[in-house]
Amino acid sequence: MMAGRPVAEAVLTSLAPRIDALVAAGHRPGLGTILVGEDSASAGYIRMKQTKAAELGLTSPHIHLGQDASQADVLAAVREMNEADDVDAVLLQHPTPPQIDFDVALLALDPDKDVDGLHPVNMGRLALGMPGPVPCTPAGIEALLAHYEIPVSGREVCILGRGTTLGRPLALLLSQKRPTANAAVTVVHTGVPDWADYTRRADVVIAAVGVPGILRPEHLTPGVTVVGGGVRYEGKKLLPDVDESCEDVAGAITPRVGGVGPTTIALLFRNAVEAAERRAAGRPTA
Ligand SMILES: NC(=O)c1ccc[n+]([C@@H]2O[C@H](COP(=O)([O-])OP(=O)(O)OC[C@H]3O[C@@H](n4cnc5c(N)ncnc54)[C@H](OP(=O)(O)O)[C@@H]3O)[C@@H](O)[C@H]2O)c1
Repeated sequence: MMAGRPVAEAVLTSLAPRIDALVAAGHRPGLGTILVGEDSASAGYIRMKQTKAAELGLTSPHIHLGQDASQADVLAAVREMNEADDVDAVLLQHPTPPQIDFDVALLALDPDKDVDGLHPVNMGRLALGMPGPVPCTPAGIEALLAHYEIPVSGREVCILGRGTTLGRPLALLLSQKRPTANAAVTVVHTGVPDWADYTRRADVVIAAVGVPGILRPEHLTPGVTVVGGGVRYEGKKLLPDVDESCEDVAGAITPRVGGVGPTTIALLFRNAVEAAERRAAGRPTA
């Protein structure tokens, strides 16, 4: 089982001396958070990240806007974070209330402070192989495969799903020229009805869909590595893309709970620390 927690712990441990060095140089990293509305799950995520930030020695200035906040209120909060000297990275919590256009708010965020790496400038940097914050879940999956010494370089990786937060950036990342990437990546989706022809020949299959149980043993070759990224929530119940029976076929597989989630959070902190390092060095990203 490729559990996410040991990977997350390794990533966070590697950050500690970098945070110490920043603090010693008078630059304590700051992860700003913006929450719009009263969604209890979102408030919980923010609290968890603030607790983790404090444990790691980061500050976490927070702006909480009410459920009836306007687009102008959200843009003002984003501007405040952009301009705040003690904020290196900003988390704009998704989802926002229906009157808010999240993409407009994301566009207003300083790309160098975009901790999720989802701003179009950062997607462009990723496509071009330029430095910058990389989307956290894809970066966490690369870290997870590397941690468990699953060879990716030169091998066939098939990603099911081409969504903007997971499948598409992951394809860009794993096809980059780097020892922990360098893969022959195929991306399949609803436009490829025979997608199992591709997953069946892959060495690594990554589910990035959000359709519970879509990936089944008959879609896999024995011994394959399977990473479950997609999930759907029904209330508090988490329904993964990867059917439980895939465990009988896979050589290595992420657990149904505690796989990609913990690595995503660790990579968010790596993005925050790297943003702080760039700012401390007075270095623009690109
Ligand atoms: N663990 C985490 O921290 C984390 C972070 C980010 C995302 N996620 C999860 O990852 C999943 C994907 O996220 P996303 O934002 O990239 O989603 P998205 O934009 O909704 O993309 C879903 C993708 O799945 C494809 N798809 C849907 N039904 C399919 C089917 N029956 N057969 C083949 N392909 C199908 C879609 O194909 P088309 O493009 O053809 O429509 C689309 O490319 C979601 O479940 C999300 O919750 C988890």
